[in-house]
Amino acid sequence: MNDGAVHITDLVKTYTDDRGRPTFTAVKKINLEIQNGEFMVLVGPSGCGKTTTLRMVAGLEKITSGTIAIGDRIVNDMEPKDRGIAMVFQNYALYPHMTIFNNMAFGLQLAKKKKDFIQDTVGRTSKALGLDQMLERKPQALSGGQRQRVALGRAIVRNPQVFLFDEPLSNLDAKMRVQMRSEISRLHSQLGNTMIYVTHDQVEAMTMGDRICVMKDGAIMQVADPLTLYRQPENLFVAGFIGSPPMNLLKGKIERRDGGLVFAETAEQNAVSVPLIGQVEALGSKLLDKPVIFGVRPEHLTEESKNGSHVPVASSVDIAEPMGSESLVYLKAGTGNLIARIHGEALYEMGQPLTVYVNMEKVLLFDSETEKVIR
Ligand SMILES: Nc1ncnc2c1ncn2[C@@H]1O[C@H](COP(=O)(O)OP(=O)(O)O)[C@@H](O)[C@H]1O
Ligand SMILES: [Mg+2]
Repeated sequence: MNDGAVHITDLVKTYTDDRGRPTFTAVKKINLEIQNGEFMVLVGPSGCGKTTTLRMVAGLEKITSGTIAIGDRIVNDMEPKDRGIAMVFQNYALYPHMTIFNNMAFGLQLAKKKKDFIQDTVGRTSKALGLDQMLERKPQALSGGQRQRVALGRAIVRNPQVFLFDEPLSNLDAKMRVQMRSEISRLHSQLGNTMIYVTHDQVEAMTMGDRICVMKDGAIMQVADPLTLYRQPENLFVAGFIGSPPMNLLKGKIERRDGGLVFAETAEQNAVSVPLIGQVEALGSKLLDKPVIFGVRPEHLTEESKNGSHVPVASSVDIAEPMGSESLVYLKAGTGNLIARIHGEALYEMGQPLTVYVNMEKVLLFDSETEKVIR
């Protein structure tokens, strides 16, 4: 069966100059299996190779080596139009001189579909997207959000096996972005097609993806569902990239003190030191006297010690951002800074001393050299 699974094997893209000499390797031998019907998000900082990867799936960029298969067909040398894909870009790419109807119908007209079929398909899709009252307008008479919906509609009417999105919401204002985000998610659950969605925005990735593929410098750092990425990052990069505000990461080493293990920040004076208790102690023993990074999420620093798994750290308040039900409190501790997400409506003053308690059950340790999490 020709399903919408996408199999990416040892995929490499090296760009070349006009004489065919290699200039830059943007994708470095990546492997990724995307299930039929899955919503897969590719996320990573600008320049990490997301667009290049997506364009190779689409057939808009030549593959240097490796294979891409959609369903059971290897598509490496297949024309974009034969791949069963439809792509939605950041800049809508609508035809300015055509009506909305014709913009949406264009692909079907090219494919020589029957007039009734086109009328019916565009009619239904435009209605579902709330565009049915503006089919005779030209794109310039539409808002950014409406234009992006037309671009979406144009992809939907083609009924592709795989939808490819490249930062489709980047040009919209914040409110519209949130709205379109849920519209695309709803669309995915209605249509059930495979979707590959590229974004640099980790919040978008976390809220939309069935699974997320985190990329950096042309390589895949981790592929997992959102909560696994959040709770069990495999490396320092994923730990720091996923989550907002980001995980607190302190440099230091594991030392033996008074018969127990402590994490001690590398600093001459005022260094933070945290006794390792529970499961973290066992992890720490694997890296005694080696450089490590101690990671704790802002919500795992609390104002009270809830049970025996919490360890105090003395700090002082730098800035607090009260947000109603919780506050983001930027703290000075030791030689560095910590961010705590503290529940409740308490107000904090600049310079105020504050003891925060680290939930040691949630702490992660990373090997400074390999940047891998210690398990
Ligand atoms: N035509 C090209 N020639 C050379 N390098 C390119 C070309 N297109 C993109 N790159 C480089 O490849 C890297 C990945 O680009 P891209 O896939 O667009 O990243 P992303 O979409 O993740 O921001 C970037 O460093 C970019 O500068
Ligand atoms: Mg890009």
